[in-house]
Amino acid sequence: MQEHYFVYILLCNDQSYYVGITNELLKCFQEHLAGTHIISYTFSRRPVRLMYYETIPFFEEAIKREKQIKGWSRAKKKALIEQNFHKLQLLSQCQNMSHHKYKDFDFAQSQNEIKNSEQKRNPSTPLRVGILGGGQLGRMLLQASANYAVKTFVLENDENCPAAHLCYHFIKGDIRDFETVYEFGKNLDAITIEIEAVNIEALEKLEGEGVKIFPRPSAIRIIKNKITQKEFYKQHQIPSAEFIITQNSNDIKEHLSFLPAVHKIGEGGYDGKGVQMIQIEADIHKGFNVLSVLEKKIIIQKEIAVIVAMNEKGETAVYPSAEMVFAPELNLLDYQISPARMPEQLIWKAEAIALKLVKALHSAGLFAVELFITKNNDVLVNETAPRVHNSGHHTIEANYCSQFDMLWRIILGYPLGNTAPILPSSIVNILGAEENAGEAKYKGLEEVLKMENVFVHLYGKTETRPGRKMGHVTIISKDVHELASKAHKIKNMLKVVS
Ligand SMILES: Nc1ncnc2c1ncn2[C@@H]1O[C@H](COP(=O)(O)OP(=O)(O)O)[C@@H](O)[C@H]1O
Ligand SMILES: [Mg+2]
Repeated sequence: MQEHYFVYILLCNDQSYYVGITNELLKCFQEHLAGTHIISYTFSRRPVRLMYYETIPFFEEAIKREKQIKGWSRAKKKALIEQNFHKLQLLSQCQNMSHHKYKDFDFAQSQNEIKNSEQKRNPSTPLRVGILGGGQLGRMLLQASANYAVKTFVLENDENCPAAHLCYHFIKGDIRDFETVYEFGKNLDAITIEIEAVNIEALEKLEGEGVKIFPRPSAIRIIKNKITQKEFYKQHQIPSAEFIITQNSNDIKEHLSFLPAVHKIGEGGYDGKGVQMIQIEADIHKGFNVLSVLEKKIIIQKEIAVIVAMNEKGETAVYPSAEMVFAPELNLLDYQISPARMPEQLIWKAEAIALKLVKALHSAGLFAVELFITKNNDVLVNETAPRVHNSGHHTIEANYCSQFDMLWRIILGYPLGNTAPILPSSIVNILGAEENAGEAKYKGLEEVLKMENVFVHLYGKTETRPGRKMGHVTIISKDVHELASKAHKIKNMLKVVS
């Protein structure tokens, strides 16, 4: 995969603009902050804020662009910076425009290449695309697929799953079984996943036979297991909490000085299941007796998620980060606000880390990177999902291009979409009420549906269980206080009982 260069504009304390170029956004950021950037400013002139950046795949082109912007007047630089802020009334014009801050440029694509790729994605010959897993993520992916000429196939054991009735063809089968996945995939053009617990060997074989897999099996293999995931971060100098690998909970006794820590099952954990807080020695019995990671407990100021899209050309688009508040008793997402309310420099750092991580995976696809902002304003990666993600559900209504639409663009070889927000948003998950299991009934649904700028998504699950994700509600508003107050109101109003 080719290198990318970033041309960026910083605002300095004397109100001047500094235009720079780098291929290592994170390192460059740190140098600027530390005041050690080689060709930087004088002592009295220091950077205050990142105003703008664009990503360019070729060095010569990036140098040209840097020189061009450097030559511009302050007013012209300002005009370039101000393109970042999309206004709602521009919606119709902007729908398919690229957002300069988040969207890469590919100057090098020749007219021939464009012609070829257009022939490939001639809508009269729909691509046959398979989805492994049929949960709510698959369901929303299928909803977005209706905008394109694509024949969708879903493989899933439960024929009443949320995605079963929205696809072109449903196949009942185990996504973890080699033969089943191979048979499912061998007549398809492309495959994507909505869960990591899939048979990777079958996907590798299919990839070898020319079926395109989004993300690549090599990336799923790294991410699927929290141990290989953590080792990958270490190897690529991606900041993440310190860790130790354990065979069983007894191993933790050898590392008492490492406590307080968080014990995490290597494979198979989700939604907080497979994560145990080990504060003191007396908690050790709560640990897992399978291969796991013991992570240093981080003092978390904020949890955020950054969704990064990468296409087969290596172009990337980054969604503005989402910030979440968790319900500690369930370890499940409580409610989320996007864009995250954070200082610009932390946002830049988080985006740079997420981009570095996704580029190091060398795979096209859509990735959700969960990060911690620590009490000391460090940014650490918690974990990555190689697929569409709960933290991106607001993008359906709140961003020009939703995470689901974006994944289709990647699979179909279309240009990446615009990740900019139309309006700020919050998400409330609709979870099965405690002590209720059985046929699902929704209390307070009509009241929520009456609310303005509120969008209800029910996943079509007939059975409820405590804490089960039954749907979500997205709220959009330019007023962040309204987002929070409506989120609280909906949480109290809407209940799923049996
Ligand atoms: N090292 C850590 N320090 C403090 N809290 C953590 C740490 N790791 C995870 N957590 C908390 O536990 C939650 C779930 O952990 P995570 O690894 O994301 O598991 P899951 O795969 O279930 O989402 C996180 O969102 C965070 O709130
Ligand atoms: Mg998580």
